[in-house]
Amino acid sequence: PEVITIQELANRMAERAVDVIKLLMKQGQMAKITDTIDADTAQLIAEELGHTVKRVSEADVEEGLFDVADAPEDLLPRPPVVTIMGHVDHGKTSLLDAIRKTNVVSGEAGGITQHIGAYQVTAPSGAKITFIDTPGHAAFTAMRARGAKVTDVVVLVVAADDGVMPQTVEAIQHAKAAKVPLIVAINKIDKPDAKPERVRTELLQHEVQVETFGGDTLEVEVSAKQKTNLDKLLDIIGLQSEILELKANPNRPAEGTVIEAKLDRGRGPVATVLVQRGTLKVGDIVVAGAEWGRVRALVSDTGASIATAGPAVPVEVLGFNGTPEAGDRLAVVDNEARAREVTDYRSHQKREKQAARATGMRGSLEQMMS
Ligand code: GTP
Ligand code: MG
Repeated sequence: PEVITIQELANRMAERAVDVIKLLMKQGQMAKITDTIDADTAQLIAEELGHTVKRVSEADVEEGLFDVADAPEDLLPRPPVVTIMGHVDHGKTSLLDAIRKTNVVSGEAGGITQHIGAYQVTAPSGAKITFIDTPGHAAFTAMRARGAKVTDVVVLVVAADDGVMPQTVEAIQHAKAAKVPLIVAINKIDKPDAKPERVRTELLQHEVQVETFGGDTLEVEVSAKQKTNLDKLLDIIGLQSEILELKANPNRPAEGTVIEAKLDRGRGPVATVLVQRGTLKVGDIVVAGAEWGRVRALVSDTGASIATAGPAVPVEVLGFNGTPEAGDRLAVVDNEARAREVTDYRSHQKREKQAARATGMRGSLEQMMS
């Protein structure tokens, strides 16, 4: 049932909590400021204090924020978004770094000036590919649980000297659950003890059948250290993406997902956002989770200040009033009032959930003590 704390009700009306408590007492109800009352009682109190009550439901508030369908003729090809997964130390970061370095033109404005959780490279074919760096398995799971589908393709990195390990298996399961195609990158083939054949056999035990074994999972042997076959990997990703026929409408208000977010001393809240449809612009009013803001600046993966970011482009978004959370979905709204409505409602929901959890904990603690 819908409930509200007395404090929260008083805050929303800009009334004193004691006045709410007094009115409740008049009705024969004893209450503390932290107690909750049901929606009907809250409405009575509010009206008695001369306020008009508008009860909003989640459906009202969230209506039209996401998933408003695009007409097929508005859809244009977009780059794939690729997440690199694999067991600890199998070379995920090395591989990403190697790909990125070979693709950044030296002396390019900005260069690699800062860490950003996602970046875009141009394959030899000229096609763009967006890589997501940060999401470890936990982040990936969290995003999936929250309904944020960010990745189109998973590149599974398996070290040829170590073989399939627990997190390799986890990654396979994640990709399967998310129904995302997998590309196998057998890494560290420069090592004398590399056994790529063994990796292929082990993968079979987890129902991943690579091409050389007659299956349809694309694969490539690479060495991040010696930069072997990196172009081939990019080509394979390009091939896999073509099959997926990825499209998005760039000509609409942006929607995206927060990949990571932090509070920066100088710049305030900074959210790394993957734009998924539409085009994000400086000046847009955005909501993400329980936070909103007016986009003050967009910073590209090379550290350049940009005015707009289209589908599959990762950007740092500056201008949030608070720090959103990884996995929060971002949407552009019409005006500040709408942004406030959405985020007020969500922060209220969030507080209520936390309160419910705290009460639950107290309950179980009491049980433990008795
Ligand atoms: P976590 O983020 O901790 O899960 O590790 P990771 O998968 O990102 O591995 P990382 O890139 O940090 O590499 C782990 C170690 O393997 C480092 O010492 C790398 O230098 C080494 N390494 C990565 N790729 C190669 C390779 O192709 N050949 C060789 N010989 N060593 C490699
Ligand atoms: Mg790493």
